[in-house]
Amino acid sequence: MQSGLRSKLETKLHVGIIMDGNGRWATRRGLSRLRGHEAGVEAIRRVVEAAPQQGIGTLTLFAFSSDNWRRPKAEVSALMALLLAYLTSEVRSLTDNGVRLSVIGRRDRLPNAIAAAIERAEAASADGAALHLRIAVDYSARDAIVSAAIRAGAMQACSRAAFADLVTGAQNLRDVDLVIRTSGERRLSDFLLWESAYAELYFTDRMWPDFDADDLAEAMRSFHGRERRFGGLQPAASELAIGF
Ligand code: FPP
Repeated sequence: MQSGLRSKLETKLHVGIIMDGNGRWATRRGLSRLRGHEAGVEAIRRVVEAAPQQGIGTLTLFAFSSDNWRRPKAEVSALMALLLAYLTSEVRSLTDNGVRLSVIGRRDRLPNAIAAAIERAEAASADGAALHLRIAVDYSARDAIVSAAIRAGAMQACSRAAFADLVTGAQNLRDVDLVIRTSGERRLSDFLLWESAYAELYFTDRMWPDFDADDLAEAMRSFHGRERRFGGLQPAASELAIGF
């Protein structure tokens, strides 16, 4: 096991991305929304490749929210098909590049083939130490908090740290440092609400399918230019030490 390497990852930044604008990007080009989502997968590849060089240890991508089930059936099926294709075709290159893949969110409503592909991809990439890539699928931050509260209620006592583990489904997951949302929208849309308590927010007009390594670098520059005080009066010492 590489617990030493994993903990090193947790000393690097945690960035969450709300990948918005696939549909508008496609419609403006006279393409189907599906083409926009396909182009969105290309953007995911670019960002996953660039992230480790940007000081990012954990990258959480919002691929499908629990509210996205409300979209037309054909679009939901197309998104599920893209996800299945990604999980099966990408595992080799992810593992070759030291990327550990996890999927967060509910699994009980996903097609069986996807749930099985998630388990295989997670197992195959478990030793990745260059980047922890987390993909949120059928994910709702509020549902994650409610479900943690129910489990905590069955315990004798629950510290904030223990509750955080219940919410995140992981042990000592680093809080989100930066949330990026593309396409000009300025909302959190039920994404990582607990984990982002002190996250910096970065909004860009760039549509997700156009987002690239330079856009990520620009977001990181903005992040590094901010003073994070976490409620105190001075910049937090741990933040002074983080760089790349
Ligand atoms: C938001 O754009 C994007 C989504 C709801 C899905 C994001 C999915 C991908 C990038 C591809 C599939 C993911 C993986 C991991 C294979 P939108 O459709 O809401 O765009 P709009 O607001 O312009 O309509």
